[in-house]
Amino acid sequence: MTKGRILSGMRPTGKLHIGHLVGVLDNWVNLQEDYDCYFEVADWHALTTKYDSTESIRENSRELVIDWISAGIDPEESVVFVQSDVKEHAELHLLLSMITSVSRLERNPTYKEQIEELNLGNSVPYGLLGYPVLQAADILLYKGDTVPVGKDQLPHLELTREISRRFNYLYQEVFPEPEPKLTEVPKLLGTDGRKMSKSYGNAIFLADGKEEIEAKVKEMVTDPQRVRLDDPGDPEVCSVYDFHKIFNQAELEELGAACRQADIGCMDCKGRLREVLIAELAEIREKRKELESNPEQIDEILAQGAAKARKVARATMEEVRAAMKL
Ligand code: TRP
Ligand code: SF4
Repeated sequence: MTKGRILSGMRPTGKLHIGHLVGVLDNWVNLQEDYDCYFEVADWHALTTKYDSTESIRENSRELVIDWISAGIDPEESVVFVQSDVKEHAELHLLLSMITSVSRLERNPTYKEQIEELNLGNSVPYGLLGYPVLQAADILLYKGDTVPVGKDQLPHLELTREISRRFNYLYQEVFPEPEPKLTEVPKLLGTDGRKMSKSYGNAIFLADGKEEIEAKVKEMVTDPQRVRLDDPGDPEVCSVYDFHKIFNQAELEELGAACRQADIGCMDCKGRLREVLIAELAEIREKRKELESNPEQIDEILAQGAAKARKVARATMEEVRAAMKL
C-alpha cells in the first residue's frame, strides 16, 4: 500500500514555544512513520507581513529547522526544506492565481482579520491577498493529500480544495483534493493565563534552559483566591495545574487533591512542574546544542531537503504545463 502524503509548513517568524510542541510538532513527529512527509519553512509566506524587515527571516528559518529536528523531525525520513529554495512554488502560484477570483480571496476570513489587525486600510499588499493561493501551490506541488493544521488554517485548506477542483475541471485531473487533518490540540495557555505568545512574554520556548524555565514557572499565576498556605485551592482556575494536565499526568490527581485540601503549597506544586518541564525539554535542549554548534549540518539537511523537494516539484510542474498546454 502506498502511504498518504503530508505537506505542512510554518512561517519562520521566531522561536517555537511549548505550545507549538504539544499543539503541532509532536503531532508531526508521530505522523512521520505512517505518511510520506514534506515539512516546509514558508519563508515567502513570512514576507506577506514582514516585507519591510527581512533581515531576520533567514536566521529564523534556520532556527525553525533546528527546533523541528530537536523535537524529533527526522530529515532522513521526512523532507525538510525551505520554500524559497524551490522556485516551482512561485511558478505554480502564478498559474493558480489565474484561475482564482479576487472576490473569493477577499471573502477569506483570515484575510479580513489580518487587514483589521494590522490596520492595513488601503495599503493591502497584493501578496497578502494571494497568501492562500501560495499555500495551495505549496500543498498541490507535492500532491499532498493530507494537511495537518490547526483550526485557524481551515479557510486556507478550503480554498486549496476549491483551486484543486477548478484546475482539474478546467484542464485535466492532476491534483488531489487535500484533506485537512485536524489534531486534538490540548489547550496550553501562557504562564500568565493568556494565550501563549511570544509577543506577550508568557511563553516557554523549546530553546529555554533550566534557569529560564525555573524563572518562568516561578512567575506563573495560581489560584488567585489562595493567599495563604492553609487556604484550600481550586486547581481548575490555576495555570500551573493546566500545565500539570499536559506534562504531568502521573501526578495530576495527587496534586489536585492536595491543592484542594491545602496539603501542598503553590511553591512545591510549581517545583514539581519545573522538574517535569526541565525533564521534558532536556532531550530537545541537548539536540539543539548539538545542531547549533554545527551550522554545516543544517546547511546540508536543507540542501538535501531542497533537492528531494525539487525533484517532486519539477515532475508536478511538467504535468501542470502539459495539462494547460503550455
Ligand atoms: N499558513 C500556514 C501558517 O501560517 C503556514 C503554511 C504555509 C502552511 N504553507 C503551508 C501550512 C502549507 C500547511 C500547508 O501556519
Ligand atoms: Fe495551583 Fe498547585 Fe497552587 Fe493549587 S497548589 S493553586 S494547583 S499552584
